[in-house]
Amino acid sequence: MTERFAGRVAVVTGAGRGIGRSVAERLAADGAAVAVVDRDAAPAEEVAAAITAAGGRAIAIACDVTDPAAVRAMAERTIAQLGEIAILVNNAGILRSTKAAEIDPAEWHLVVDANLTSAFLCAQAVQPSMIRGGYGAICNLASMAGRATSTLGGVHYTTAKAGVLGLTRHLAREWAPHRITVNAISPGIVDTPMVRASRDAEGLEAVRRSIPFQRFADPAELAALIAFLVSDEARYITGANVDIHGGELIIA
Ligand SMILES: NC(=O)c1ccc[n+]([C@@H]2O[C@H](COP(=O)([O-])OP(=O)(O)OC[C@H]3O[C@@H](n4cnc5c(N)ncnc54)[C@H](O)[C@@H]3O)[C@@H](O)[C@H]2O)c1
Repeated sequence: MTERFAGRVAVVTGAGRGIGRSVAERLAADGAAVAVVDRDAAPAEEVAAAITAAGGRAIAIACDVTDPAAVRAMAERTIAQLGEIAILVNNAGILRSTKAAEIDPAEWHLVVDANLTSAFLCAQAVQPSMIRGGYGAICNLASMAGRATSTLGGVHYTTAKAGVLGLTRHLAREWAPHRITVNAISPGIVDTPMVRASRDAEGLEAVRRSIPFQRFADPAELAALIAFLVSDEARYITGANVDIHGGELIIA
């Protein structure tokens, strides 16, 4: 445990498992009070309980971050229970691998809403609180999918993640006068339930072998990078994207 984020309130979306869980636990271990937000209530509650048991401060909020009213209610509840929001990690997202010719409009909107619109809605909902509280740092989960093309996902996923990079740059510029930083990270393949569900063992092994580092990222490695980007040490960094991929794009 450190005091790095003492007195700060963080919202982490999609924090019931995978990367989001790791980020929530890392920020809490560094002193933040964390709203563990997920559309699935039970995993969010389990993560919040684990943080509390480890001596941290957390609440669980069940919220579908594609629903504007639910997102506003999530922000209000966080402020009421924990205080003004200083940090937002837009991590919630879904992966679909359908080929472009077979994607129907419903699936297109599902993937774009979950990965891109959700980040806009959450940023918009917490911005007034960041201004009131005098500190704002947002980190968005983009992907190597958005920097190049997706290895595991379809064109909707690639498009949404490219959109996250545009959202990041634009909000960074628009909210710079408020000293709210907005950055993105673009991971390669990370060892999470999302990735494990996307291919059989043989398929995953082929993907692993294609990575120059010959391994997937550990969610804790992403949490460490995100913790830096939302910390006091990174206050002059905004509108940036940091790739974290074990060498993938270098050979793309
Ligand atoms: N795992 C990877 O290799 C990888 C690579 C690059 C980017 N990413 C991105 O990182 C983020 C986290 O990925 P992960 O691998 O941990 O995924 P995951 O599927 O393991 O976990 C995602 C979590 O988000 C939640 N969630 C999904 N849609 C939601 C919604 N509408 N409202 C609230 N919660 C919602 C899920 O319930 C789940 O708990 C995603 O945005 C993903 O696109 C992942």
